[in-house]
Amino acid sequence: MKRLIEIPANRLPAEGQRVLLRHEETSVLLFNIAGTLHAIDESCPHSGASLFAGKLHGNMLQCPAHGLRFNLEKGCPGAKGMEVRTYPVSSHDEVCIVDLSEATTG
Ligand code: FES
Repeated sequence: MKRLIEIPANRLPAEGQRVLLRHEETSVLLFNIAGTLHAIDESCPHSGASLFAGKLHGNMLQCPAHGLRFNLEKGCPGAKGMEVRTYPVSSHDEVCIVDLSEATTG
């Protein structure tokens, strides 16, 4: 069964910004990096800190708690075995869709 979050175009983050999305028990961050949208889990895989306030360095996000870094496109681990889930994002007319059922790690 598909688990989708639909975001109207007028609620998408501006370039360089992020928004927090919630769907049932899942919290997702949606980033706009140079006009491309990226969705990742809001929770850091190390000890669960929120990644919402993490610093961006290009498409790398640094966890504000202990500094692990994550690639927003690939969810590459900041350390071995520490992988953040990423989700595919697509656009359909005036709606953006994050597909929670197609998560990938690493
Ligand atoms: S909770 Fe993110 S690096 Fe420790």
